Formats: sequence, C-alpha cells, structure tokens
Amino acid sequence: MAAKMISGTETAKKIREEIKTEIARLKEKHGITPGLATVLVGDDPASKVYVGAKEKSCKNLGVYSKRVDLPADTSEADLLALVDKLNNDPEIHGILVQLPLPKHINEPRVLYAIDPEKDVDGFHPVNVGKMVIGGDCFLPCTPHGVIELLVRYGIKTEGAEVVIVGRSNIVGKPVLNLLLQKREGGNATVTLCHTRTKDLAFHTKRADILIVATGHPKTVTGDMVKEGVVVIDVGVNRIGKTAEGKAILAGDVDFESVKEKAAAITPVPGGVGPMTIVMLMKNTLQAARNSI
Ligand code: GUN
Repeated sequence: MAAKMISGTETAKKIREEIKTEIARLKEKHGITPGLATVLVGDDPASKVYVGAKEKSCKNLGVYSKRVDLPADTSEADLLALVDKLNNDPEIHGILVQLPLPKHINEPRVLYAIDPEKDVDGFHPVNVGKMVIGGDCFLPCTPHGVIELLVRYGIKTEGAEVVIVGRSNIVGKPVLNLLLQKREGGNATVTLCHTRTKDLAFHTKRADILIVATGHPKTVTGDMVKEGVVVIDVGVNRIGKTAEGKAILAGDVDFESVKEKAAAITPVPGGVGPMTIVMLMKNTLQAARNSI
C-alpha cells in the first residue's frame, strides 16, 4: 500500500491565507499590527534557521517582527531585563525566546518571566495549566500543528488508539493533553511511550495513529507498526550534508520502511515543521486581538 502524504507545507499555506486576511482586517478596523519579538541567545545553527524562518513568515503575513540576537555569554539577568522590556512594549503582542538556551541560563526562570498574555509559545505554566483543563489559552505551536494536521486531513481521533513516542514538555506531554480534550481532534485513547517503556514495539504496533517525537532518527521502523497506521513524524534530525554543504534532514521515523505499511504519513521536511511556524503566527494574531 502506498501511503498518502500528509503535507504540512500545503496545509500551512492554506492557514497562512486564512490568517493573512484576518491580519489585514485587524489593521484596517482597529489600526493594530500584530508584533512578535524573537529572541535568540548564542549561535546554534539550527536555532538560527528556525528563528530566521519565523521572521520570514512574519514579513510575508504583515506581522511586525522584532528580532533580538544576543551573544552566547549573555547573563541571565540581562535576558530577564530584556523580557521585562518586551512585556511592557505595546508594539509587541508575542514573545518567543528560542530554546535551548545556553547552559548557564535557567530556562524555566526565563520562560516564567514572559507575560502569559504574550506567551505565544504556550510554555508558561499558566498556559500549560489552562491547556490541561481545556481552558482558553495559547496552545504550544508544534502540538497544535500536529492536531490541526489530523483534523484538516479528516483523520478521526475520537476513540482512536493513539500512541505517542517521546515525553518532552514541548511535544509529547502537550500532544497527550490535546488528544484527551473533549473536542474535535481529541477524544482519543492515548498511550505515551518514553525511554523507560519496556517494549516499545508492543505499543507502536497497536497504534491507529502514531506520533513520534524522540529526537532520534529511525526510532520507529516498518516492523514496529501495523498496516494502515497514520504516522505523524515530529522529528528533525540533521543526518549529514550535501556536496553543497546543505543539511540533509530526516525525521524520527524510518520513512522508507514505515511508508510501505502506513495509510498516511508526514514527510520530513514538509510535514510538521511548517505547521509549527504557522501556528505561531496564529497565536501572535490572537495575542494582538486580545489586546483590543
Ligand atoms: N526550540 C524547539 N522548538 C521550539 C519552540 O517551539 N519554541 C521555542 N521557543 N524554542 C524551540
């Protein structure tokens, strides 16, 4: 069976069109331009690419983008002072501090300093708590993008056996919570597997929908899934370089063997990645709306 491709690139394009109109309307009707501040500390090449892509997306959609690049030896106090300044900047509706931060900076302390009303990453405990109980809040971008892909491709989560591999705060845990909500894209029976799971293949073979976010290529191979599974691969691993020096990317799933059995699968790149950025734009628009 040839698996259907679940295209994040195409889906994100559609959502961009939807929000572009809304952003223009917000400007026209209320004179508000949504503003996003992105903060990058240090020069991690992957983080630079991600922040650059977020900045580009802002420009394309008419979102004001303020980028702050700081050296790797920036003190925690200086970073906290910047966050405080951005919290009080009326032109900025959303603040994103790119992770990971250098080791000498206490990551939670910085994330908790962001005003929850400007926390478009959805990482502040106030937003995490509201998400868990199904309240109105900013949803974290990658998990929200995963759910949006499933919904827009008509993949029914209600009553489905969904298996997640990976328990990170950024992906695994929030995806688990969203899938449990009593609403569209929720109502699933969810199993969350991690590095201490005894028999990973036992669980993955039971999955109707398999979501993989481990940060390791080939965590799941074809022999670990059942026929007809829907696979969402959240991984982005740099597995080498082309002759021109461009990074070669692979997901956390062994695409070649898994696609032979899957009913549908996300490619890497072009799967979850573009969805993360568009959900960030959606949250920034929402933050601007909330300021009216
Ligand atoms: N690093 C990897 N993913 C993310 C994300 O979604 N937001 C931020 N701020 N940093 C990240």
